[in-house]
Amino acid sequence: MPTDQPAPIPDFLYGTAWKEDRSAALTEMALRAGFRGIDTANQRRHYFEAGVGEGLQAAYRAGIVTRAGLFLQTKFTYRRGQDHRLPYDPAARLSVQVAQSLASSLEHLATDHVDSLVLHGPSSNIEWTDADAEVWEAMQRERDAGRTRLLGVSNVSLGHLEGMAAVHSEMPAFVQNRCFARLGWDREIRAFCNQRTILYQGFSLLTANPELLQHPSHIGLAQQLNATPAQVVFSFARAIGVLPLTGTSSTQHMKQDLASVDLTLTPEIVRAIESMAG
Ligand SMILES: NC(=O)c1ccc[n+]([C@@H]2O[C@H](COP(=O)([O-])OP(=O)(O)OC[C@H]3O[C@@H](n4cnc5c(N)ncnc54)[C@H](OP(=O)(O)O)[C@@H]3O)[C@@H](O)[C@H]2O)c1
Repeated sequence: MPTDQPAPIPDFLYGTAWKEDRSAALTEMALRAGFRGIDTANQRRHYFEAGVGEGLQAAYRAGIVTRAGLFLQTKFTYRRGQDHRLPYDPAARLSVQVAQSLASSLEHLATDHVDSLVLHGPSSNIEWTDADAEVWEAMQRERDAGRTRLLGVSNVSLGHLEGMAAVHSEMPAFVQNRCFARLGWDREIRAFCNQRTILYQGFSLLTANPELLQHPSHIGLAQQLNATPAQVVFSFARAIGVLPLTGTSSTQHMKQDLASVDLTLTPEIVRAIESMAG
């Protein structure tokens, strides 16, 4: 058996946004709890990627996991999504910025490759632009050079994806979007992804959907299943083909979130949750 097979895509991603000086400790804690997928970004404004790297090192030293057993995902963020702490020369061409940002991520994470590099968000809210095309082609070159295994895009609309499909022969392996129940859990984008075998990653599954989590029917359903309302949302997400992210800072929630993998919902329950919103 070959021993250098890449780690499979895990069924939960631990998100490291907004952790600041707790990034290292929380990343290590998440790995100890059992997470094997880490989502970060080279965007100091919202993520402390070097801190995430320290957490990985601590987990490696403690023998919790090896690099080969982990799925590491980072992002390239345009200048407009950054503050003054840039991981690239803002005067350089976008393709150079992509290379510099990823080189800096690899340094932060002390690895020679990530498993996924994601475009944090397109340059325009309306359409897929020439700038995005330049970035996407640069990301493909990084992948071809072995510095990332897979590529993704985030915060995209159907228009972005259609624009992308019109000008590129290669589509992403991942789409990472905020998932609102009232929008049918991003139904249109998920349908596009299904048709093209793109794996949809969903974030803000809890924070974007307080009305569902507080809905008496949802609470009642969770009680019937002997689960928490949050666990039911994560399990529901998987049932509709969404790879969920959680950024919890609580050890108890980490365990509960991971345990949702073992909670299987019947098709009737999935339909009931879908009909509660969206
Ligand atoms: N691509 C993008 O633009 C983008 C944008 C936003 C986020 N993300 C990624 O997605 C990750 C997750 O972000 P998020 O927006 O989903 O929010 P989040 O940071 O995961 O926040 C989730 C909230 O839900 C709570 N929670 C988690 N598990 C729970 C449980 N089992 N029971 C009750 N409450 C629970 C957490 O509180 P406790 O801490 O107390 O558990 C927290 O307040 C981020 O860290 C980041 O990696 C990406």
